Amino acid sequence: MIIKSCKITNFRSHEFFELKCWKETTMISGENGSGKTSILEAIYEAMRGKSFRAVDKEIIKRDADFYRVELEYVDGEKVVVVYEKGGKKTFLAGDKKTARLAKKYRYPVVLFEPDDLNLLSSSPSHKREYFDRSFGQLDDNYSSLLSRYNKALKQRNELLKSEFLSGEAVFSWNVMLARLGVKIWKVREEKIAKIDERLTEVYRSIAGDEDTVFLRLVRDSEAMDESGYLRELERNFEKDKILGYTSFGVHRDNYEFLFNGVLADGSASRGEVRSIVVALKFIEADMILAATGKAPVVLLDDVFSELDETRQKALVYNFKKNQVIITSVNAVEDIETS
Ligand SMILES: Nc1ncnc2c1ncn2[C@@H]1O[C@H](COP(=O)(O)OP(=O)(O)OP(=O)(O)O)[C@@H](O)[C@H]1O
Ligand SMILES: [Mg+2]
Repeated sequence: MIIKSCKITNFRSHEFFELKCWKETTMISGENGSGKTSILEAIYEAMRGKSFRAVDKEIIKRDADFYRVELEYVDGEKVVVVYEKGGKKTFLAGDKKTARLAKKYRYPVVLFEPDDLNLLSSSPSHKREYFDRSFGQLDDNYSSLLSRYNKALKQRNELLKSEFLSGEAVFSWNVMLARLGVKIWKVREEKIAKIDERLTEVYRSIAGDEDTVFLRLVRDSEAMDESGYLRELERNFEKDKILGYTSFGVHRDNYEFLFNGVLADGSASRGEVRSIVVALKFIEADMILAATGKAPVVLLDDVFSELDETRQKALVYNFKKNQVIITSVNAVEDIETS
């Protein structure tokens, strides 16, 4: 889908703003704090159904009663999001009003934030969030697995702290977590294997050297089956009782990048790390296209000017089939799109 325009009202610092988009590359430039990221946030929300950085009551312009986003695509399709102070939110798409954005109107987005450049050295929870969001766009089922898992995990953790705790009571939650956890592992391993098929090759095309890069999932257990998972939960039960939370499971996974066989964080240079992240974004966009048949819209928030010329060129070249929207403090000149 190609975006034609995005109109926002009472969205963060914007009372009203209209962005008209080009089919290929659109530039948004402005001072720090002028509201550039907010525009990408509005686009993302109308395409994915929620913001990538905040909840609605933080987004609504201070002292306003509502905010509104109207996203129009070149084929005439339109999505309108209205949030009213107090919590009521509606999506209007295809003449239907819904409380959540219907799957049919969700379109893939590859978002590239400055913070992503620090992905390799970020915490396991940040890395999980990053890949959960990415895999969720590839596989609707994955998002629903995750939300079911998280609900069950919350219940088990509450039980661990409650006076009604017993081995028996916790058992049904163990079974549920094992069933969902194993499925989540499967998806994660599958997607990582797909990424690894191309990571080195794409990395080399950006960095122009002979290094190898691999992504791997670090799990607390080698076993991938439900009974193994269940055993681990049971083995950790006494510890969990003392801690008051569940210490084993997919919510503790970590992701590691290996650069020439050793941990990239600590061995790869800053520039190499950047190339790894850029490679990851290209693969993400390709995987989305392969999985959904749709070329994702690419939102580059402030990263373009962070990168050197080689990596900028790689970005332009690799995303030449995508609609790209770039924000930058300085106007980026001479972006060759051909
Ligand atoms: N709910 C809100 N109501 C009014 N203003 C807000 C609200 N939320 C954030 N702001 C303001 O909006 C501005 C932030 O906008 P945004 O993050 O989009 O800026 P930016 O142009 O991306 O900045 P930078 O270049 O620093 O990344 C800040 O000045 C912030 O104080
Ligand atoms: Mg910004």
